[in-house]
This record gives sequence, C-alpha cells and structure tokens, in this order.
Amino acid sequence: MTADITDLMKKLVSLCKRRGYVFQSGEIYGGLQSSWDYGPLGIELKKNIENSWWNFMVTTRPDVVGMDSAIITHPDVWKASGHLKNFHDPMVDCMKCKSRFRLDHIKGDTCPECGGPLTEPRDFGLMFKTQMGALEDDSSTVYLRPETCQPIFVNFRNIVNATRQKLPFGIAQMGKAFRNEITARNFIFRSREFEQMEMEFFCLPEEAEKWFEFWLDERMKWYYGLGIKSRNLRTRRHDDSELAHYASSCFDIEYTFPFATDGWGELEGVANRTDYDLKAHIEGSGQDLSYHDQISNTKTVPYVIESSGGIGRTMLAVLLDAYREEEVEGRERVVLGLHRNLAPIKAAVLPLSKKLSENAMEVFDTIRPLFPVTFDVTGSIGKRYRRMDEAGTPFCVTYDFDSLDDKKVTIRERDSLEQMRIPIETLADKLKDLIDNGWPEEGI
Ligand code: GAP
Repeated sequence: MTADITDLMKKLVSLCKRRGYVFQSGEIYGGLQSSWDYGPLGIELKKNIENSWWNFMVTTRPDVVGMDSAIITHPDVWKASGHLKNFHDPMVDCMKCKSRFRLDHIKGDTCPECGGPLTEPRDFGLMFKTQMGALEDDSSTVYLRPETCQPIFVNFRNIVNATRQKLPFGIAQMGKAFRNEITARNFIFRSREFEQMEMEFFCLPEEAEKWFEFWLDERMKWYYGLGIKSRNLRTRRHDDSELAHYASSCFDIEYTFPFATDGWGELEGVANRTDYDLKAHIEGSGQDLSYHDQISNTKTVPYVIESSGGIGRTMLAVLLDAYREEEVEGRERVVLGLHRNLAPIKAAVLPLSKKLSENAMEVFDTIRPLFPVTFDVTGSIGKRYRRMDEAGTPFCVTYDFDSLDDKKVTIRERDSLEQMRIPIETLADKLKDLIDNGWPEEGI
C-alpha cells in the first residue's frame, strides 16, 4: 500500500467512526477482528442502498419476486450444492514470520511480507458450522449460509407453485452470509459476516446468453444510479482458471478500491450458473425441481443467470467515491458528496444562535415527519456546516434573526455552497423537490 492509499482508508475509517457510520465490533473489549457494527448513519446508508437495490431488482419488475430465507440451513443443502466439498481456500503459511496467505493472492514462492519460505498449500473450509438442539455431535451439525442464493434454488418449486411465474423470471434475496475468511481485511470489503444482494434469473438454456448480457447491463446501470463515477467502475470477464465450480461464464463488476493490488476490486459477479444448482438439488433431494410449461406440456431444468453483489462493498465504494477534501474560502473541509437519494440525513435545521432555538425547532417540527432530518445547535454555524458536510447531508436550513420578521429561511447546498432564501411555509415542498430533483442548476 502506498502512503496515499493507507492515508485515504485511514481517513475514511476514522470519519466513519467519528460520524457514526461504522464501528469496530466489540471495540471496548479490544475489538473483534474484521467484524463491524453499523452506527446511526451507517444503518441509514445501508438501508438506502438495500431499498434502492430491492426497488430496482424486484418492486419495479414484473418478472422478479423476492424471498427471505433462514440463515441456519440444512446441511444437505451444502452437500448437494458442492460447498462442503469445494468451498475451501488453499492457504500457505510463511515458515519464518508465520503470516498466512491465500494461495491465489501471492506471486512466487516466497513470503510477500518477509521473503521467507512458504509451506505447501493446505485447504481451509470457509463455512461456519454450529450445532442445532441439545446434542453436540455430527448429527446436529448445521451451517450458517455462506451465500444467499442456495435457499432460492431449494425453494424454486415452492415459489413457482405460489406465484405462477412463467419463464423467464427471477427470484431475489438479500441478507447475511457468513464465511470464515482467513484473510479478512480492508475494512468492510472482506469480513466474515457480511450481506449479499443476489438475484437468480431462471430462463430457457438457449436464451441464457441473451439474459446474461441484459443483466450485466442492468447491474452497471444500478451502480451508476448510486452516483458512483463511471471512470471508477468497469466490467471484467473471468478467465477459465478463475471460474467458480458452478459457472460457465462470469463477469465481475469492479471498483477502483485503493487497496486492490491491480487497482480494481470486485463489487459483484454476474454469472451463468447453467442448470448446475437445480440439477444438484434434484439429485440431492430426489425431488422434481424442473419447470413444467403448461402450454407445450414440456419439462425443462432452467438455466440461471445470477447477479451477486455485496452490500458492504457497495457501501465502501459509495463512501470512497464520495469522500473529498477541499479548500473553501481559505478553510479546509472534508465532504462526503453522497448522492441525495443515499444520504442518511437529507437536511439539517440550524439556528444561527442558541437564542433562536425555539423558533427554529418549530420549523424543524414541520419537516421532521416528512424526511430524515436533524437539528443542531451546538458550536459555531461554520462548525455545524462542516459536521453536516462530513456526514454527507445535502441541505442545511439556517434560521437567522431576519427569519423572525420575514418568516424565511436559507437553504444551503452542500457541494456548490449555493444558497436560496425561501418562505418557511414553502420549506417542506421545496425540500421535497430538492431531494427528488436536486439543486436547480444540477447537471447544467
Ligand atoms: N452466489 C455467488 C457468490 O456468493 P461470491 O463472488 O463468492 O459469489 C458475491 O460473492 C459477492 O458477495 C461478492 O462480489 C462480494 O460483493 C460479496 N462478498 C463475498 N465475500 C465477501 C466477504 N467476505 N466480505 C464482504 N463481501 C463479500
């Protein structure tokens, strides 16, 4: 890592703690490594990302339905899916400094930390197992799901029967997944407990390539829609040696994460999983999971196009992309230029002086039920603006001494620093318009 990169990540991690986005889990006990808790602003940002994904992938599409499965799963699911056999990382240890690395993360046969010799690769199982019920033996072993998609395949017949969806159609799920990663690092990029957003699109085998291209395109549109700069996003085709055991082809959607060795790190995979999973569960369960076309009276095991992204990684990309330091009127400021749809707080009401708190609070009360807003009276107005800039709040509403007479307030926009003075009675409508459509000159 170069100094700049370490610096940027350090600054972001520190801002995330300072402003209540992300905290290290169990911090007062020394911290649980690679485990993270989302604070008041973090949970709002995460929810905004999740809602945006659900809206884009499910609510607005007639051909995709959602589900939410249990996290603790039947062991046979992972036997049939191939995870028990294949879900391992080959690891090597340095015999000198004892550091441990994933084999596919190192070049050459000496330790990247100290140059020492490495052991032969050994496999480490990635699934978390636990015991269900009172007995603690093999018969009670169950697994925390390492991906959210398998319960989708397992429920394929239930969902077809319940919804009468016709091919092609998709099933989406988002939620926690667990992997005992050996090299969990880089803040929320790679952790052991994380959240996935996955959609499995079932189609006729001969249409799989068409849908693969369609979904890759759609997924890029979603990332652009989050406000991530297009120059920081790309797609990359997996070569054969990278393909997972279930995939016939796969593209990664990548972001310019500053710590990534070649400058790009994975946000999401879009893969053609063929009929691998449904066939595996047909074989594993002995149940018929084929699709029955009533009109032609034919049975097919559909192909599956998968879109599989991480919520934490998307959040990290959004935060890195939004972070900037700049000088304004001779003063340094740190800004999180989050898209207004993602910003956890949409507006802050700031009385210019403590003496105006009561009047400003009346204004605040009129908009509080309508948007996520905050009220801040502590410190100089300049300090409060800086706090809101760092938190990513797009609009600040200032109540000053003139407001007492002219019944107007000033709205300040975070990025351009432009201001407009408007009657208090129009504030709620104006803010709604600004949140929906942006500052008037945006995009000109
Ligand atoms: N169902 C396919 C699947 O799970 P994956 O590439 O292993 O594919 C998909 O994971 C996405 O889940 C990744 O692109 C990444 O965004 C996220 N992800 C995977 N492992 C993760 C981890 N340890 N920490 C955070 N996110 C992770």
